Amino acid sequence: MIIAIDGPAGAGKSTISKLVASQLNFQYIDTGAMYRGVTLKCLRLHIQPDEVSRKIESMQTEIRMDGEKIFLDGEDVSQEIRSIEVSQAVSAFSTIPAIRLFLVDLQRKMAVDQDILVDGRDIGTYVFPHAEIKIFLTADVDVRAKRRFLEMQENGGSVSFEEIVANIESRDRIDSQREMAPLKKADDAIEVDTSSMSIAEVVAQILSLVETKQREGMNH
Ligand code: CDP
Repeated sequence: MIIAIDGPAGAGKSTISKLVASQLNFQYIDTGAMYRGVTLKCLRLHIQPDEVSRKIESMQTEIRMDGEKIFLDGEDVSQEIRSIEVSQAVSAFSTIPAIRLFLVDLQRKMAVDQDILVDGRDIGTYVFPHAEIKIFLTADVDVRAKRRFLEMQENGGSVSFEEIVANIESRDRIDSQREMAPLKKADDAIEVDTSSMSIAEVVAQILSLVETKQREGMNH
């Protein structure tokens, strides 16, 4: 079974996804972390977005997901990919088809032979259009920024609230306006607005959707 969870920046996708996946015993795949990983590599090598198509082959990038960790060419970059520098660059790199094709191929391979819960921007529309369950997770922009601000403060970050709002708004714009596989609710996705919901409420709602789906499946 494939569960796809899409939505804009900071809607709580990864927090919710981790909890739901562990309840269901599904493998969780954080595709945002993969885009962040490739972006980090480009920043380190001083490769501009418009140079990536030419250079991606020779970059020989290896992205490996292990539980909640992400390894870039063997190095654990789970912390570094959350930096504001990566957050500010990732959407521009994510418009590049060469990067998307490379990562989508990897994501589809990870789906073979296991139940997965995948979160991102284009999972229900492009990567897994036949996913059994599709959720579109949203929240008001100030709620999303506040959540991300608290999360970054807990991790010892010193990024201002204003910077986070600006980053979220800019990523939403670039992600939904890009040509290839833009951020968009799939026609058959269920929209969940989490603005005034607790984490436990969102998790419970998704679990109950899954249960309904599984029951339907057994009756067919
Ligand atoms: O967790 P947060 O909402 O901050 O974002 P993320 O899931 O880590 O994704 C970071 C960025 O990667 C997004 O803003 C998109 O530009 C890109 N992305 C994408 O293009 N397609 C995906 N399936 C997942 C992420």
